[in-house]
Amino acid sequence: MTKVSVIGAGNVGATCAEYIALRKIASEVVILDIKENFAEGKALDLMQTASLNGFNTKISGSTNDYAKTAGSDVVVVTSGIPRKPGMTREELIGINAGIVKTVTENVLKHSPNAVIIIVSNPMDTMTYLALKGSKLPKNRIIGMGGALDSARFNCYLSQALNAPASDVQGVVIGGHGDTTMIPLTRLATYNGVPVSQTLNADTLKKVAADTMVGGATLTSMLGTSAWYAPGAAVATIVDSILNDQKKLIPCSVMLEGEYGQSDICMGVPVIIGKNGWEKIVDFNLNDEEKALFAKSADAVRSMNSVLSTVTPA
Ligand code: NAI
Ligand code: 2OP
Repeated sequence: MTKVSVIGAGNVGATCAEYIALRKIASEVVILDIKENFAEGKALDLMQTASLNGFNTKISGSTNDYAKTAGSDVVVVTSGIPRKPGMTREELIGINAGIVKTVTENVLKHSPNAVIIIVSNPMDTMTYLALKGSKLPKNRIIGMGGALDSARFNCYLSQALNAPASDVQGVVIGGHGDTTMIPLTRLATYNGVPVSQTLNADTLKKVAADTMVGGATLTSMLGTSAWYAPGAAVATIVDSILNDQKKLIPCSVMLEGEYGQSDICMGVPVIIGKNGWEKIVDFNLNDEEKALFAKSADAVRSMNSVLSTVTPA
């Protein structure tokens, strides 16, 4: 028996629950939301796909009743609000920090041993907040960003190479933001061969630039942020935890000297297994990449500094 709870039954939360069921990753998924009957409705709709899609995962919904999430092995936090017109960065961080703090406390009352995956934005800052607030061992708090950004990088690389995305291996590290993420073009490969052997410098620059604005491009097309690739990225991390796959996935985790940074959560390549993130892998960045990582850390730190000016409810 494996149980996953997804907090927030919105676009990303419901899609993530769907992929967990479709891919037969867990035996039970509980979706929780504060909106009356919203999670119950999403769960019922998803359960009515079970005979069509051939899965046995039991999906149920809950309106803010954390007792139903009890005994979860993994909890995914997608609850939060998007930035609205006229809202300052401080206001957004204040509201989402309050939500993430309360949600994390409630989750841990009922699932004290869960690994927690943070999705809510600004994700690196929310991951840092969840870790500091919960005082959990650092390996049990994982921020989802690099898995999604790398999937977008692979998508754009595969289009440029005219090859299937599953034949392309690209990794994005750094902060999960338009200007803070770092697509590692030098290390990207097409079936083991550096992509730089096939794609010229201008094409690679464009692929990296498209990747960096990948989220913003979709937000302007959809009127809200994306959900299919984010949901699939979360499901992949959940799979690696529940099935102890030891996959290497870039995730936002607490750094204590690794990649030259400390007291900050940022995207780095990590091994994900039953204990959460188990090891940070050193990619031996060159000087240019190291400088980009340091610049990205400055931006994430500046976002984190806002936390001390807002008082989470
Ligand atoms: P959404 O608005 O569709 O869903 C959010 C849900 O959270 C809503 O149903 C809302 O009622 C619920 N909620 C709000 N406060 C809550 C609380 N205290 N307890 C339980 N539920 C609560 O938003 P969407 O598109 O699902 O995005 C969710 C979050 O994930 C946003 O912060 C978004 O920016 C972020 N995101 C992060 C990504 C990443 O790569 N880290 C990718 C995509 C989205
Ligand atoms: C994304 O990258 C907005 O974080 C969200 O799609």
